[in-house]
Amino acid sequence: MSKSHKDFLSVLDFSKEEVSVLFKEAARLKKEGKQGGAGSLAGRTLALIMQKPSTRTTVSFAAGMAQLGGTPLILNSQELQLKRGESLSDTARTLSQYVDGIMIRANKQDEIEELARFASIPVINGLSDKEHPCQILSDIFTLWEARAGGKIEGLKGMKIAYLGDGNNVAHSLILAASLLGMEISVASPKGYEPEKEFVQKGKVTVLADPLKAAAGADVLYTDVWASMGKDEEREKRKEIFMPYQVNAALLAAASKDARVMHCLPAHRGEEITEEVMEGRQSIIFEQAGNRLHVQKAILLYLLKDL
Ligand code: CP
Ligand code: NVA
Repeated sequence: MSKSHKDFLSVLDFSKEEVSVLFKEAARLKKEGKQGGAGSLAGRTLALIMQKPSTRTTVSFAAGMAQLGGTPLILNSQELQLKRGESLSDTARTLSQYVDGIMIRANKQDEIEELARFASIPVINGLSDKEHPCQILSDIFTLWEARAGGKIEGLKGMKIAYLGDGNNVAHSLILAASLLGMEISVASPKGYEPEKEFVQKGKVTVLADPLKAAAGADVLYTDVWASMGKDEEREKRKEIFMPYQVNAALLAAASKDARVMHCLPAHRGEEITEEVMEGRQSIIFEQAGNRLHVQKAILLYLLKDL
């Protein structure tokens, strides 16, 4: 199938058909576990430029690239000439001649877009201030597998409630839900709602009442209250966000068989209780596990043409 974009910078860079192809590929890779796709990217190199900390994104991309037979280069941006003021555009033009793809975790979406504009190779957004598309693709894959019978149409009408900070993860979730016909409600404290641009691009109900958002939902999704870069606001936010905690009472308002999701890392006792995180409705560690298979499918799609 012909690719709609060179890069994966936003959830909306893939069409519904492309998402369906990627999910089938991820499921095929998952069946073979860590051996899935062995040798498919032999001789290819992926640069991972990291401006912020990461466990899952770095390791799933790096291990995934190695399992596909390629080589990952993990580059802390503090150790590149970027730290000394070299531009992203010059970095992009240089790296394009050495490696076959770049995954970048950056402070700003604009920086990722600049890098992609000047790179002749695929660029993948491994989280920015605006979006976390790889995370959300993998999360929707988790639902596709567990709740939609492995069919893209099976996601239609599924009710997702996102509770908490209207952040990068919320933005990507709004876009994915809209792309795939899922119903999404976001409940956030006043002043912490998702950005207008994403509310307008997607189809979402934004509320202040967490119980209203959770009522009858098939999925409750939450994320940290203070994202990377906002750590100094953590204490202040705790008080403001406490009514949005995903706990047993909130879960009781959702549909009987609702699933609980979190992209991790989590702060138990803040956005989610220990009880719910470790409870039978939590699919949080399945989400984390699926990052590997979905990352591999994205790499195959962008670097090799599935
Ligand atoms: N969920 C996620 O992206 O985790 P990391 O920050 O550990 O990569
Ligand atoms: N919203 C979080 C996600 C971490 C994976 C952050 O940006 O820190």
